[in-house]
Amino acid sequence: MPWYDHRNGELFAEAVRLADIAERYGTPTFVYSASAIRNAYREFAKACAGRRVTICYALKANSNLAVVDLLAREGAGFDIVSAGELRRVLAVGGDPARVVFSGVGKSAAEMREALEAGVGCFNVESDSELERLSEVAQALGRRAAVSLRVNPDVDARTHPYISTGLRQNKFGIAHGRARATYRRAAGLPGIDVVGIDCHIGSQITEIAPFLAAADRVADLVDELRADGIELRHIDLGGGLGVRYRDEDPPSRQALMQAIFERLDSRFEAGRYEIMFEFGRALVGNAGLLLTRVEYIKDTGERRFAIVDAAMNDLIRPSLYDAWHGVVPVRPRAGATLPHDIVGPVCESGDWLARERMLCVEPGDLLAFESAGAYAMVMSSNYNSRGRAAEVMVDGDRAQLVRERESLESLYALERTLK
Ligand code: LLP
Repeated sequence: MPWYDHRNGELFAEAVRLADIAERYGTPTFVYSASAIRNAYREFAKACAGRRVTICYALKANSNLAVVDLLAREGAGFDIVSAGELRRVLAVGGDPARVVFSGVGKSAAEMREALEAGVGCFNVESDSELERLSEVAQALGRRAAVSLRVNPDVDARTHPYISTGLRQNKFGIAHGRARATYRRAAGLPGIDVVGIDCHIGSQITEIAPFLAAADRVADLVDELRADGIELRHIDLGGGLGVRYRDEDPPSRQALMQAIFERLDSRFEAGRYEIMFEFGRALVGNAGLLLTRVEYIKDTGERRFAIVDAAMNDLIRPSLYDAWHGVVPVRPRAGATLPHDIVGPVCESGDWLARERMLCVEPGDLLAFESAGAYAMVMSSNYNSRGRAAEVMVDGDRAQLVRERESLESLYALERTLK
């Protein structure tokens, strides 16, 4: 069931009128649905019932504290890529032991902080990172639990910017070299080898690439076992896509079932804990970006709806050519015309949607769909625009979960010359 729909000609988010949110908190504003996030997590959890599985939430998709808190309460683990994301997990009282620390460029300071916090596992991506981590851990008198991120060289068949599991990508340790790196890892004093992981990309809409990656990882697990290296967990990363337009990704249930069947054919049940790092599949469809039309401009060539949101709020269209649905909050009865929806930023790349059939006038509210993942987190202050407000709805309640940035805050860290 969608969490937003029109009732009596008005768009509602759960039981809250979006026009009321705009009135109260202004625009542009991100609106998230607590129920949609909970339901997404619960679907994964249900599909994993009776198995040793941890669904980690990849904070990079949307790291608002309210979102992290909600998922912590549901029992999610977390996938982080920076000390900043770790702090967010800790800020909501999340369990550091259920955190995996991913990323190709962890600094020594970040490693130290994560070790001191008691992070569950480091997903290590290179030999040099492994050595640094061993040294940092030793200096603290600890051992770092490590899983090596292998690059399975599988084509996720997604946008090249978000494809990560191909040989030419910067991610992971080449499949053919992983065995040797594991042997080195096993001999390092500050390292405790506990797992293996991979992540082949994002917005993947087929099951086959996940299974191909699982097979490649399972092959390595067997080889490592033959080398006397016993792992405790297998982490298959994230990447499940969502529907933006007409994509037809597998359901959460179908993906989980297919992966478990494949793993069951390789290993005795329960031998390994299975982990995932989903971001988009948990929050992508659970957010809207609410914006108001400032002007309609017809150049003769094109008709533009100039709105108060811009590429600094939602960069996915200009960066990946991404398509986000546009829904009028109070649809007008009248002839629709193709509109390009653009923001106030001084770049031709500042577009949010193109050639959408709409009947709109200045002052109208529009909602961009599927803005729950990789939207607010990728926003910027370009053109000295404060970041949008964020609101979470839950039933008939709407809560401000991040204030709109004030313009003074944008230069509060700056100094004029003395
Ligand atoms: N684990 C690792 C190691 C990752 O690099 C990522 C995403 C995830 C998990 C979560 O992937 P997800 O389940 O959300 O697909 N900004 C792009 C997406 C970049 C994804 C980066 N890595 C976009 O807006 O489409």
